[in-house]
Amino acid sequence: MEDIPTARVVIVGAGLGALYAALKLAPRPVLMISPEVLGQGASSAWAQGGVAAAMDPADTAEAHARDTLLAGAGTVDPAVARLVTEEARAHILDLTRLGTPFDRRPDGGYVLSREAAHSFARVVRVRGDQAGAEIMRALVAQVRETASVQVLEGVLATGLRVESGRVAGVEVALSGPQGSAPVLIRAPAVLLAGGGSGGLYALTTNPPRIRGQVIGMAARAGAVIADAEFVQFHPTAIDCGEDPAPLATEALRGEGAQLVNRLGERFMPALHPDAELAPRDVVARAIYAQSQAGLRPALDTRQALGARILTEFPAVAGACARAGIDPARAQIPVAAAAHYHMGGVAVDSDGRASLPGLWVCGEASSTGLHGANRLASNGLLEALVYARRCALSIEAALGPAADAAPVLLPDLPPGPVPDPALVARLRRAMTEGAGVLRDAQGLTRCLREIAAIEAAQPDCPALLNMTATATLIAAAALMRRESRGAHCRTDFPQTAPQGRRSRLRLSEALALRDSLTTETT
Ligand code: SIN
Repeated sequence: MEDIPTARVVIVGAGLGALYAALKLAPRPVLMISPEVLGQGASSAWAQGGVAAAMDPADTAEAHARDTLLAGAGTVDPAVARLVTEEARAHILDLTRLGTPFDRRPDGGYVLSREAAHSFARVVRVRGDQAGAEIMRALVAQVRETASVQVLEGVLATGLRVESGRVAGVEVALSGPQGSAPVLIRAPAVLLAGGGSGGLYALTTNPPRIRGQVIGMAARAGAVIADAEFVQFHPTAIDCGEDPAPLATEALRGEGAQLVNRLGERFMPALHPDAELAPRDVVARAIYAQSQAGLRPALDTRQALGARILTEFPAVAGACARAGIDPARAQIPVAAAAHYHMGGVAVDSDGRASLPGLWVCGEASSTGLHGANRLASNGLLEALVYARRCALSIEAALGPAADAAPVLLPDLPPGPVPDPALVARLRRAMTEGAGVLRDAQGLTRCLREIAAIEAAQPDCPALLNMTATATLIAAAALMRRESRGAHCRTDFPQTAPQGRRSRLRLSEALALRDSLTTETT
């Protein structure tokens, strides 16, 4: 494999965490590895809700931290919740300075949305449901003007090189349909900021590229993975046959939209005192139960929003239009879909992973903020806070920056790309076995299927990254013999008195998987 040394910090990913970290590292030379054109294909750009922050003078970071702890079902790290919520306001002001056109009131204050399990309206937004897209637009524009940032577009990271126990660089290949042979980019520091795992599921709100590859890459290199079993399902993905499923933001329920079934019954008030604004895991399970019972759950925005939905929530209105639904006149059919991975590469408060030379931020990381159930709109916030922390920590670790020439990739021959039929099989296996409701039998079947899929194309690193993350999710779910937050075991419905986070290496998950594949049950 060809070796390309650089003095640049390598950032894998092109979402919010990656862009913000690149800006915070400037003027230190950085190389961003982006599988698509910068800003496209990242989950951040699809985030509709916004960023949670105590911006109202009557709100406090303490209240925000308390809501985060409560939603997280006993596994949020209180120190992390405190530090993230305390820094939130500064990042909103920074994003505003960098050009994000947050919705403002006539008096200049931020328009704030209410979302599930928040005790206060504290989600800053842009034109209703455009927060992710507009924040990304502002940051991409900044990065394009920052001379220290080189972006390699159309390039996919496929592996980490570890030498003498330290991450020495990133293996990359061309990301087009032909793929390519990999090359090694040797770097003084590597920051992974390439998103979560939602696309490992057949029904997901995540962009097609987001299939656990970054977590899998770190896991294959030997990094510790935390809370892998905690996958959040969003209750109101629009059930219109599109893959990925478009999102109907929770802010609609914050505006008063109701969940009903085909019998016209509103089912949430009987299940939780906060009804439609109950914690996301509770609402997702209710939607799943309605779907399984053939009761076709739907979101009814007509009374709460009427025709306002068309102008105030353009992304939702656009998705409805594509599906032939007029939400001002009709209900929106919904389903629970994989949306956010609370688990990921275990990091400390500076974003450092267990492998020296490796930092991780955003959804690929597990900081301890989200516990078993992420509070709405804390995802973008965590990415901002930890992108900056990673940048500061990398600066401190590397010392004064030297100039660095741009990295040029040589011409590369074609290489392996994941077989689409195997990817589809993997996604089905995860939805069936490691989805909203889990039990030992389904998880065992799922792990055996992952092993078979992996064995069918063992020379394809991009597929191995996916199966590694899938294995970690299913193995951690099998090992957690309780129900907690988004992790619901029908064979272990109780919640243990003491919440604990899980930590797992891929070698341990594979040992469990191997023991199941050799059993004869
Ligand atoms: C939503 O807008 O409902 C999603 C927000 C989030 O996932 O944080």
